[in-house]
Amino acid sequence: MSPATSIWSTAVSPPASASSSLPFLLRSLFFFDFSASLLFVISSFERQLPVVVMSQNNSIVVWSTKAQNQAKNPVLKLLDTGNLVLTVTDEKDENSRITLWESFDYPTDTFLPGMKLGWDLKKGVNWSFTAWKKPDDPSPGDFTYGILEMGIHSYPEAYIWKGNKKFYRTGPWNGLRFSGSPDLNPNPVYNYDFVSNENEVYYTYTLKNKSLISRVVVNQTGHTRDRYTWIEAEKVWRVYSSRPRDYCDSYGLCGANGNCVLAASPVCQCLKAFKPKSPELWSLMEWSQGCVRNKPLSCHTDGFVKFVDLKLPDTTYSWVNKSMSLDECRVKCLNNCTCMAYTNSDISGRGSGCAIWFGDLMDIRQFPAGGQDLYIRMSASELLEKRHGTKIKIAVTAAAVLAVVSGTLLVGFYIFRTRTNLKAKKEPNGIISHQNNEDQKEDLELSFLDLSTVVGATDNFALNNKLGEGGFGPVYKGILEDGQEIAIKRLSRSSGQGLNEFKNEVRLIAKLQHRNLVKLVGCCIQGEEKMLVYEYMPNKSLDSFIFDQSKSKLLDWSMRFHIICGIARGLQYLHQDSRLRIIHRDLKASNVLLDSEMNPKISDFGVARTFGGDQSEGNTNRVVGTYGYMAPEYAFDGLFSTKSDVFSFGILLLEIISGKRSRGFYHPEISYNLIGYAWRLWNEGRPLELTDECLGQSSTLSEVLRCIHISLLCVQQCPEDRPSMSSVIVMLGSEGALPQPKQPGFFLEKDSNEAHCFSSKQEPSSTNEMTITLLDAR
Ligand SMILES: *[C@@H]1O[C@H](CO)[C@@H](O)[C@H](O)[C@H]1NC(C)=O
Ligand SMILES: *[C@@H]1O[C@H](CO)[C@@H](O)[C@H](O)[C@H]1NC(C)=O
Ligand SMILES: *[C@@H]1O[C@H](CO)[C@@H](O)[C@H](O)[C@H]1NC(C)=O
Ligand SMILES: *[C@@H]1O[C@H](CO)[C@@H](O)[C@H](O)[C@H]1NC(C)=O
Repeated sequence: MSPATSIWSTAVSPPASASSSLPFLLRSLFFFDFSASLLFVISSFERQLPVVVMSQNNSIVVWSTKAQNQAKNPVLKLLDTGNLVLTVTDEKDENSRITLWESFDYPTDTFLPGMKLGWDLKKGVNWSFTAWKKPDDPSPGDFTYGILEMGIHSYPEAYIWKGNKKFYRTGPWNGLRFSGSPDLNPNPVYNYDFVSNENEVYYTYTLKNKSLISRVVVNQTGHTRDRYTWIEAEKVWRVYSSRPRDYCDSYGLCGANGNCVLAASPVCQCLKAFKPKSPELWSLMEWSQGCVRNKPLSCHTDGFVKFVDLKLPDTTYSWVNKSMSLDECRVKCLNNCTCMAYTNSDISGRGSGCAIWFGDLMDIRQFPAGGQDLYIRMSASELLEKRHGTKIKIAVTAAAVLAVVSGTLLVGFYIFRTRTNLKAKKEPNGIISHQNNEDQKEDLELSFLDLSTVVGATDNFALNNKLGEGGFGPVYKGILEDGQEIAIKRLSRSSGQGLNEFKNEVRLIAKLQHRNLVKLVGCCIQGEEKMLVYEYMPNKSLDSFIFDQSKSKLLDWSMRFHIICGIARGLQYLHQDSRLRIIHRDLKASNVLLDSEMNPKISDFGVARTFGGDQSEGNTNRVVGTYGYMAPEYAFDGLFSTKSDVFSFGILLLEIISGKRSRGFYHPEISYNLIGYAWRLWNEGRPLELTDECLGQSSTLSEVLRCIHISLLCVQQCPEDRPSMSSVIVMLGSEGALPQPKQPGFFLEKDSNEAHCFSSKQEPSSTNEMTITLLDAR
């Protein structure tokens, strides 16, 4: 009973008058043994209220419920947790009780196990802790420990304020711990957790073993936030950990864009590529002015440098999306000129989520270990300098005239192994890695060639260097000064896509790597000119083999089957395994290149995405593709999906098997297109007649049959009926039974009048394949 008395006596002075004074009253509660019973005088227990807490001698009303009829049968209980809970009978249900008030919702200076630091966003309750003014004066002191309420897209973190100034910052919660607490690790004393959703944002902890007691207290002096553990043997509270820990924990010590490195002297350093804003003050160890960039940003041509082992900057001006990937995050940041940095918001597992920062980067420090990666925006010239050590002259060369091409047979371009100059040491994203403020791992994903180099390499886009006309523009062979061969795709100029978006896309595409995809090694962007640079392969594209009378003989069945499987794997990678989930939208024989060992490599992937402007599955205004390969729902309605690629794959399969073009297929007796022809043969039970005559004996009949069967499954009318590419791969590799194909799309007689007909009259008269880029007139 005696502790209770002392609680009253301290709590009642200064006199409490407002109805919210109970929290204040309870400020000192936790200094006493939790299990000790306290004497509270609550009047009106039997009557219907108000509940009133009075001082022991009944002379002062300390606290009372506001609502007159809320508290029926009230009970005030001090739980073993230390939570003082006032419950009343639920008006709607006599048998249950509701909590009217609990002391854990009104913390004072002591953060007990099970309490929360943060916000109940729904009720607007803020769980923050405030130091006592003096050890014997529980009135609020200067230091407050809490979380800023910033809304659902913020990246929450805890602060200690001194008055209204930030004094210490924990760093945002990164899925494992606060970014500024590399020492917050699983330990024998307590478990900890951070919860952030639309209802609540809080940090909490619980004891692992009740025999080991621990609490956190916000102090007015010295270390402002201490965790104590109870040492039973000695009957004392021992400090277990403290914040701030050291000089570098002082909030904003090194100013904007400064980096506090405890091991350095002086501790404040400017981040790489930054310099002191005021060198004079800086040299006097007055760092508060912070640092500014050596080179100004230009926004649209910027890139990022990776810094490691940092405490993430202050998140007051930040934005978070928990489901975005690091790539998406980068794009998001790059597209907003005020975005200065990005990183994964969650580093547990392999890293996920996206956090981006706007404006100056505040309160960064370097940890020897256990810090985080941060990708900081840099101007292109800074990046180039890092890469080459010298400035690169940005040559501005008059753009050469775009060759007008029509009706040219698509030859494809030929690709070759990259060689070192173009191939930078890889680190994802064109990011320069930057370590420990000193040594640098410098890396660029992609080469950016300047126009003069490309003009030189292609002899000013000479016609005899032209390899063909792919989707979106002509392809040229180029030879760089050092003899390296490259294939350059010169994108036609009507894309309407911003430079920035274009670059991002190209960077993303360059990251798609698979043995059945042609490798994109660089690009050239200058003025209106946009070009993609690929490996050059001195072999031809698939169409030049299968549709050529003499060369088709070189491709026996086993080779064709090998090619079919390779294309399927490349496409599956684009659809499923790559992080971008690319829909090719223009798969066709001329977009499949063959290397020296006749391994197929899909080219032009991602270009539709880059160039067509539509980046997701869905409906597009711009129809990109090639007649004869396009799925009906795509050709007519602009609906594209992985299943429209599967349709194109089915057509390609038919072409490889039959050696006949889907378009321009002509049979003297039959007025069907290639699909219709295949479908008819299938229904008449003689599918093998579809097979290219030159295949002769080489074929494994069961494999050929299976491929015809699969191709018909791929070209079914309804997208839902078509298999996914992974199912196709399973089907190709097994001998299990396959479902019966339903009626294919575009299976029509040439003179059919049906509305859905893809009548030959609507098609361009030439039988040459041309990729079309149409704006749908909707
Ligand atoms: C009752 O409490 C009031 C206020 O603290 C005090 O002034 C008064 O002397 C107390 N009376 C007794 C009998 O303790
Ligand atoms: C808790 O700690 C006590 C004393 O150290 C120990 O004897 C007991 O085994 C522990 N209990 C658990 C569940 O770890
Ligand atoms: C967060 O990212 C996901 C995945 O990119 C996206 O679907 C969602 O719309 C984003 N949310 C916001 C608010 O931007
Ligand atoms: C960039 O981000 C800032 C801060 O969130 C926002 O106010 C601004 O609208 C954004 N700008 C663009 C172009 O998205």
